[in-house]
Amino acid sequence: MKRLVLILAAMLVAGAASVAVAGDFHVGTSLICSDCHTAHYSAQHGYAPGAPTLQLGPAGPYNNLLKDDEVNLCLTCHNNQSFAPDVFGQNGGTSGLRQAGGLNAAAGHGLTNDVGYDEIDGHTLFSTATPPGGNTSAYHAGAEGLICTDCHAQHGIATQYRNLLNRGNFAGDTLSYAVGTNDLTKDVYERSAGTYTEDQIDFNEPNTRASSYGRWCKTCHVDFHGQGGDLNMGGQAGGVTATNAAPWKRHPTADVNIGESGAAATFISSLSRYAGLTNKVKVMDSQGLWLGTGTDNTLTPSCFSCHKAHGNQNAFGLIFMNGSGTRTEQGDGGVYKDLCRQCHTQGA
Ligand code: HEC
Ligand code: HEC
Ligand code: HEC
Ligand code: HEC
Ligand code: HEC
Ligand code: HEC
Repeated sequence: MKRLVLILAAMLVAGAASVAVAGDFHVGTSLICSDCHTAHYSAQHGYAPGAPTLQLGPAGPYNNLLKDDEVNLCLTCHNNQSFAPDVFGQNGGTSGLRQAGGLNAAAGHGLTNDVGYDEIDGHTLFSTATPPGGNTSAYHAGAEGLICTDCHAQHGIATQYRNLLNRGNFAGDTLSYAVGTNDLTKDVYERSAGTYTEDQIDFNEPNTRASSYGRWCKTCHVDFHGQGGDLNMGGQAGGVTATNAAPWKRHPTADVNIGESGAAATFISSLSRYAGLTNKVKVMDSQGLWLGTGTDNTLTPSCFSCHKAHGNQNAFGLIFMNGSGTRTEQGDGGVYKDLCRQCHTQGA
């Protein structure tokens, strides 16, 4: 078993190298059909001399010639393997703090949640719940509930960050990205190809009234995203006024800079407070600086400021960031209000 994994790893590394510029995987030349499909649900040996038979799930043959049930198939490589990002519970894969965090699963589907990664702590595989703030028609999960391919395209999309879906319900939900050298017209900046850790990822803001990331999440969580002035959001274009005449009704996820609202700025949100912290939650910045000092007054919160996309060990996958100390995927040992106090001064 160990040997199989190592040989698989070598094959995959070779695949990844050929697309180093794109920083993407499961797309173009790195879409290796035999990673996931089997022609006859049977194979006596692998594709290279001496290579072992690739692993098949026990209950096949499976739909679409897959080697295993879909989530199991993905987790064969994406849970506790050294050659691929770990996405389920505790990080047993490549080291570093995962930008997306870890998923959990509903009981009764053969997966056991790692300690601390409970169902209330982020996205739950196989959940049949309606997305909060959303509606069932936008959420096209099959009978099995929420699975990887409700969010990711299994055959990749070269232009789409993390192969996040942009078809069907997600039509038009583009999430473009730059690799290596930043490009402020792209939504996401990956510092180098094939990296998945927090320190390697940052968010641009090509349209200062929008968040492509927020809009993508909105496909399922309909009411939770919009611009200032939208009925579901409250506020007004560019945030509240100095007199707070147009308060927000839901937390802004686009359109307003930290500390933007004139005289009341430090009362509503404080740029100097955010700038002064060592450990910062992620924000969008149209200038690509993410500091909040000097002329860098263009920082805007979005979903990733407060949540890990897959989840973590905190309720709702929230990031409790105090501002100093050792970072983990949970934050840095802070509590709920420390998250708010990244940008707000209330509660000193
Ligand atoms: C990372 C895993 C993975 C790889 C690699 C992969 N597939 Fe698939 N493929 C899937 C999954 C999962 C489905 C089923 C999707 C669903 O349930 O709708 C699928 C479905 C399909 C289908 C059915 C139509 C469709 O697009 O859903 C075809 C045809 C197909 N794959 C061909 C290929 C070919 C050819 C390759 C190699 C060039 C390939 N696949 C590589 C995971 C993969
Ligand atoms: C394909 C639909 C879909 C998309 C896209 C989606 N979600 Fe969800 N989300 C769900 C469903 C279904 C639930 C309820 C079941 C569960 O907890 O997983 C949920 C629950 C959540 C929860 C609550 C988790 C908990 O444990 O209570 C958070 C937070 C969340 N989503 C954030 C996000 C963010 C941020 C994004 C964008 C990165 C996003 N979601 C994109 C379907 C989706
Ligand atoms: C509710 C939507 C959703 C589901 C379900 C989901 N993902 Fe993700 N995934 C995302 C988003 C969004 C990101 C990018 C997050 C970011 O960079 O902030 C991501 C990132 C990733 C990454 C990059 C690793 C990282 O830490 O950034 C991998 C690999 C991945 N997902 C695989 C999977 C697999 C495999 C499954 C199923 C076992 C799955 N995802 C289920 C939304 C989802
Ligand atoms: C045979 C092993 C294998 C299987 C099976 C597999 N993956 Fe992957 N996947 C990888 C590896 C390896 C990488 C990372 C390559 C790199 O960047 O170095 C990856 C990367 C990814 C990424 C990040 C791509 C990006 O754009 O950064 C996503 C998303 C992902 N996989 C989703 C899935 C989903 C969904 C499935 C199931 C349908 C799946 N994977 C099945 C090996 C696998
Ligand atoms: C400023 C921090 C913050 C931002 C930004 C943020 N959230 Fe949340 N989110 C929270 C908190 C705190 C909760 C816990 C429930 C509550 O207080 O409403 C939560 C809960 C959720 C839930 C679960 C709701 C439920 O009924 O269980 C979902 C889904 C969610 N957020 C999605 C999103 C999406 C999608 C975005 C971006 C469009 C986003 N959040 C941006 C702080 C934030
Ligand atoms: C990354 C920065 C950031 C974080 C973290 C953050 N906020 Fe905010 N918050 C803002 C910004 C920016 C505004 C909009 C200010 C404006 O309109 O000028 C805002 C607006 C608000 C408002 C609306 C004020 C009004 O009168 O309209 C409230 C209330 C609020 N936040 C509470 C919270 C709570 C509670 C948390 C923690 C769960 C939190 N915020 C976390 C940046 C943040």
